[in-house]
Amino acid sequence: MTSRYDETFTAALNDPGEFWAKAAEAIDWDTRWDRALDDTNPPFYRWFAGGRLNTCHNALDRHVAAGRADQLALIYDSPVTDTVRKFTYRELRDDVAGLAGALRGLDVEPGDRVLIYMPMVPEAIMAMLACARIGAVHSVVFGGFAARELATRIDDAKPKVILSASCGIEIDRVIPYKPLLDEAVDVASSKPDACVVLQRPEQTAKLVPPSAGGRDHDWLELVSAALPADCIPVAATDPLYILYTSGTTGLPKGIVRDNGGHAVALNWSMANVYGLEPGDVFFTASDVGWVVGHSYITYAPLIYGCTTVLFEGKPVGTPDAGVFWRIIADHGAKAMFTAPTAFRAIKREDPEGTLIRKYDLSRFKALFLAGERADPATVQWAETHLKVPVIDHWWQTETGWPIAANCVGLEQFPVKYGSATKPVPGWNLQVLDSKGDQVEPGEIGALAVKLPLPPGALPTLWNADERFKESYLTTYPGYYETADAGYIDDDGYVFVMTRTDDIINVAGHRLSTGAIEEVLAEHPDVAECAVIGAADSLKGQVPVGFLVLKVGAEKPSSEISTDVVQMVRERIGPVVSFKTALVVKRLPKTRSGKVLRGTMRAIADGQAVRVPATIDDPIILDEISDTLRGAGYGAP
Ligand code: COA
Ligand code: AMP
Repeated sequence: MTSRYDETFTAALNDPGEFWAKAAEAIDWDTRWDRALDDTNPPFYRWFAGGRLNTCHNALDRHVAAGRADQLALIYDSPVTDTVRKFTYRELRDDVAGLAGALRGLDVEPGDRVLIYMPMVPEAIMAMLACARIGAVHSVVFGGFAARELATRIDDAKPKVILSASCGIEIDRVIPYKPLLDEAVDVASSKPDACVVLQRPEQTAKLVPPSAGGRDHDWLELVSAALPADCIPVAATDPLYILYTSGTTGLPKGIVRDNGGHAVALNWSMANVYGLEPGDVFFTASDVGWVVGHSYITYAPLIYGCTTVLFEGKPVGTPDAGVFWRIIADHGAKAMFTAPTAFRAIKREDPEGTLIRKYDLSRFKALFLAGERADPATVQWAETHLKVPVIDHWWQTETGWPIAANCVGLEQFPVKYGSATKPVPGWNLQVLDSKGDQVEPGEIGALAVKLPLPPGALPTLWNADERFKESYLTTYPGYYETADAGYIDDDGYVFVMTRTDDIINVAGHRLSTGAIEEVLAEHPDVAECAVIGAADSLKGQVPVGFLVLKVGAEKPSSEISTDVVQMVRERIGPVVSFKTALVVKRLPKTRSGKVLRGTMRAIADGQAVRVPATIDDPIILDEISDTLRGAGYGAP
């Protein structure tokens, strides 16, 4: 019997242009494309060159016109403010058109950047869609980042306008956003023309309007005075958004997403990867500041005509570990998507799944996990208690949608624990050795995707074509380097094992140890430092810092450790979860001076350590082991 997955995978592999042109028929175009796959300028590939469309039209207006005007587009469920608000497609279209008009009133033109720094409120989604509506390029910055990180992104994206809110809410703590925004704008060298602030009743912000020499505008006032704006068609290859993600240095990478390929790929994924139908309710518990939020809270569900759920809360503590099940039951979600860490948190609080049984989950059909490796124990726990398929799938900010998944819409394969199942059609995934040759099934190597990447994947980095080539396309010419290592077994199942760079994954959040080291090195008493990601039963990994102090350091070690923990929180943000800075006499290094971070990580995780042949002085590993043991890490 032919497999639907195999047929589809082969069709996408053999003629990507034709395959994706067919998928593109499901999208509304103002002008059809000249060529589906433009491969005239490798290694830069473009999708649907010559085509014109509007992403907001595809997400809202076309559904209003096609009979979904009164269907719910968005359900905002916020246990932290005890609010549920629902928007039909018509209502959301009208609100977005109003906000788009307000942006036009601030002279935002197609191609201008608009930065969005907002908590999980409906206006955050409206902001993204309003930008798309008028061809502006949005850049959403996650609320858990500190002012300096925000400033770095402002300087790179150079937004004309910043959209923000007075505060966010972390369980029961109100976090004022405006002081962070003000500080970031102060520090940044590129100043926006205007900051539009949504005043939330939990804590309002002091605004300094242009009439008083400032640049602040009240969101509601501005929108109520604006005329609604229509959709402006843009080139399929024009950028829809920039999303910054951790690179190996403190300077984040501005991942660019185009309009045409993105709409086509996400729409296709809803049916074929997620097995959903228009009208279904999809609940993605992430944050709009991450790629998962961009793709599967905002764009994919709406482009496909589903109802999306926006959740302002945490998996536990708002108010308990049953909140996901309450939302699934209340809103009739057919599928849910979150990070494994959220399930580890729930499992810790409700190991027997008692709260699950309180709710009617009869309409719930599948759970999708991504953002970090899904540990088999967590997957099995979810399967046992939820009694639905639990699907681990692997992707990255860069790819925008999954590279490997169990594509339930096409054909559901048996689960192999620890595997994200098979490459998704469109992704020609290979495992390569250090010379760039393909390895045998079962052998570990670098996971790399043969070019061209499918639509929806990054075409380049914002204003940084060379960095794009260097970062992703140079190590294995003709391939995109994922920087993940793993293997593909005899049955074609993909196992993603570890990053090959200094990126760590903390509670599904991607962070750079290099960026944390840059902050530690700024302390006047620190001579040298290193940061590793140590295994953590809740967050997957947490950063652990090692400090070598300068001779004659002015402060006691404990104070320096406290200082650097605070510095990381203030400079990068609380989301780093950096709590452990250990003072050591020296760092283990190779004879050529390279710090042995991998070996330190193995010690911290209690793994058997092979002493590298090139080590300068093996005794240092004993010192590191002792220090880590003192902090509760490593073998007892
Ligand atoms: N604004 C301000 N601060 C924020 C924030 C935001 N948007 N998001 C997180 N923070 C803060 C938290 O309050 C916390 O601060 P603290 O150190 O003072 O307690 C810190 O950043 C770390 O946050 P978080 O990683 O969320 O840890 P937590 O201990 O509060 O919660 C989990 C743990 C597992 C419940 C939580 O990480 C979670 O729900 N993860 C889901 C993962 C996810 O959505 N991943 C996205 C990719 S799919
Ligand atoms: P981000 O860009 O924040 O989405 O992080 C991407 C990285 O998270 C990947 O490169 C992987 O290292 C990791 N990751 C995401 N999903 C998975 C998964 N399902 N299995 C293993 N690792 C994953």
